Amino acid sequence: MAADLVRFGVAMDADLLARFDEHLARRGYATRSEALRDLVRAELAAAHVAEGGMAAATLTVVYDHHVKELTERLTEMQHELGERVVSTLHVHLDHDHCLEVIVLRGPAAALQAAADRILATKGVEHGKLVITALPAAEAHEHSRHHDHEAQTHKHPHE
Ligand code: NI
Repeated sequence: MAADLVRFGVAMDADLLARFDEHLARRGYATRSEALRDLVRAELAAAHVAEGGMAAATLTVVYDHHVKELTERLTEMQHELGERVVSTLHVHLDHDHCLEVIVLRGPAAALQAAADRILATKGVEHGKLVITALPAAEAHEHSRHHDHEAQTHKHPHE
């Protein structure tokens, strides 16, 4: 990788740079270069997602499994998403509550829409979607090598 490194100069307001350096120290960055690389990657990933590119996501939801037919509805929604659901982790949090982490892969807009539907379902108390860019090359590579893997799919309340 070192052979591909390109150095470039950045002109910046001294006050802004001082604030940036303080921020880097708090975050534990060793160098400005490493911090800048992370910022650039984050910006490119955000743009990729905003433009509807391929994405990977985790949707975490907490719900009350006593709500009538909620467990069935959530299972049905995940079946409708088909191969966009990579895996689901289910935890029985306490007597009333379940936590599910749904790992998704697909076009960013479709994942966002699916998450919105699931989060808006009656009985789903709270949750959050974390979405990140899935570069096209990586998605291709992944499907080529791992599509044959069996997915375990359990319906814990059935
Ligand atoms: Ni449960």
